[in-house]
Amino acid sequence: MQKINAAITAVGGYVPEYRLTNAELEKMVDTNDEWIVSRTGISERRILKEEGKGSSDLAVPAVLELCQKRGIKPEDIDCLICATVTPDMVFPATANIICDKIGAVNSFSFDVMAACSGFLYAITTGAAFIESGRYKKVVIVGVDKMSSIVDYSDRTTCIIFGDGAGAILLEGTEEEIGIKDSLLKSDGSGSKFLHMKAGGSVKPSTVETVLAREHYVYQEGQSVFKFAVKGMADVSYELMERNGLTADDIAWLVPHQANLRIIDATANRMGLPKEKVMINIEKYGNTTAATLPLCLWEWEKQLKKGDNLILAAFGGGFTWGATWVKWAYNS
Ligand code: UT7
Repeated sequence: MQKINAAITAVGGYVPEYRLTNAELEKMVDTNDEWIVSRTGISERRILKEEGKGSSDLAVPAVLELCQKRGIKPEDIDCLICATVTPDMVFPATANIICDKIGAVNSFSFDVMAACSGFLYAITTGAAFIESGRYKKVVIVGVDKMSSIVDYSDRTTCIIFGDGAGAILLEGTEEEIGIKDSLLKSDGSGSKFLHMKAGGSVKPSTVETVLAREHYVYQEGQSVFKFAVKGMADVSYELMERNGLTADDIAWLVPHQANLRIIDATANRMGLPKEKVMINIEKYGNTTAATLPLCLWEWEKQLKKGDNLILAAFGGGFTWGATWVKWAYNS
């Protein structure tokens, strides 16, 4: 029997309307546009403002757009995997809630937590389901409502993050296209640099933990930066090398949008010019698990069947990785 490959056959995305600009942040904390742009590359981020709305509400329009583009119904989905660090609730899985909201009644679903690398972990898992031949349509969602865990009195983190969602559909093909290879890594010793102190089983939330603002993102930015620059660049280079890919073979680098300087370092290491790098950090900031699918969503029309894409990410955990995708369609 011919080998089944997992191809990306549709993309959807969603960002909320509200734009949190650098000018707005200047009124909230001691910062300025010049510092934010020069240190991160970010000018604004989108924020989900409506009360009572969570990550699933960002994900639903992204998944529905994908279904509409591919001409399938939510009932046709066999499995939905949601990568997020900001689930609607600690449990059940946000993937279960997304499926309920869209009517994906035939889909089993679960969440993957690998922070900014979550989308790569989920796509690698979903591709294996397709390659096994057991499932025909697997949806991968990367979503985060980072505004729900960001301390807007902490200038070192509140300038970075935004909200958004992106989704892709994976389907089987016998053509030599799709998810070609993935190199995923994790190192829990990095958790001390980037985590949330309270609200988990070690330290359940109490009035005291909330007063101490321990229900927000804690990040030692410089340390994370150093690991991210090396981790994302090394893993991307290693993936190229083990597949015999040169810079000329690669049409696009799709990098996690955490900091423009980290993106530049990765592109340099891979020998790629800026024109081959997807960058939208200036308008969305770091949307954690959503950055990669939001790039695919935005650049979809420019992608050609057979294009080689390298998706790369680094984030909390630490987790990092790179995935080689051969694009499957012309829009
Ligand atoms: O996606 C998840 C993974 N996360 C990342 O990849 C993030 C990695 N880290 C970074 O992107 C960067 O470390 C940051 C953007 C978070 C910070 O940039 P930095 O160039 O590493 O700045 P720094 O932390 O070294 O701070 C430099 C100075 C400090 O002042 P002093 O000590 O030199 O007087 C900070 O207090 O900048 C100050 N500073 C600010 N100034 C204006 C920190 N935040 C701000 C701010 N506005 N928002």
